[in-house]
Amino acid sequence: MKNLLFFALAGMIAFTSCNQPKPVKTIADLKDGITGETTASAKYAAFSQKAIEEGYDTIAKFFDAASKAEAIHAENHTKALEEMGEKMDAFTPEFEVKTTAENLREAINGETYEIQKMYPQFLADAKEEKAEKAEKSFSWAFDTEKKHLQFYQKAIEALEGGNESKLSFSYAVCPVCGNTYDANNVDEKCAFCQTGKDKFIFN
Ligand SMILES: [Fe+2]
Ligand SMILES: [Fe+2]
Repeated sequence: MKNLLFFALAGMIAFTSCNQPKPVKTIADLKDGITGETTASAKYAAFSQKAIEEGYDTIAKFFDAASKAEAIHAENHTKALEEMGEKMDAFTPEFEVKTTAENLREAINGETYEIQKMYPQFLADAKEEKAEKAEKSFSWAFDTEKKHLQFYQKAIEALEGGNESKLSFSYAVCPVCGNTYDANNVDEKCAFCQTGKDKFIFN
């Protein structure tokens, strides 16, 4: 009788876990997110190089920090995807490098799209499909992109006003969530994931 009960119970558990619906929307979102974040990381690294060539060292520093942050977002999304037993398909990031003023506008457009459309939709899908790890990764990226947008807006204003040398020369990136700070104004612990500032990557 005990044995019978055990098998009945084991069967029920197996049936329930097989029956768990696959988070199909979140899987597609994670793949799109990895593509977007990987492309942004490569693009900002190239924009940083271009800013150095044009003599905008402060703006180059911020592009460099943002590039590191986007790589962390891509890494976190990848981990969430792989924990679902899925794999990312190979792709090549595509982008154009123009003048620093144009590159800043391109960065502002990209961040605005992620904040207004992409991450709100991804977050809603992850919540609906109860994909907690993906939801956390999306929310860290979403909150970081809001800060990136502010930095880029400040940078374009400074560039247009000829004041870019007054921008910060150093930034800090949280290695866990990608949160990005002006290095002169960091929190003791990351405001998004509580990682201590001694772990931050300063440039
Ligand atoms: Fe960003
Ligand atoms: Fe963090």
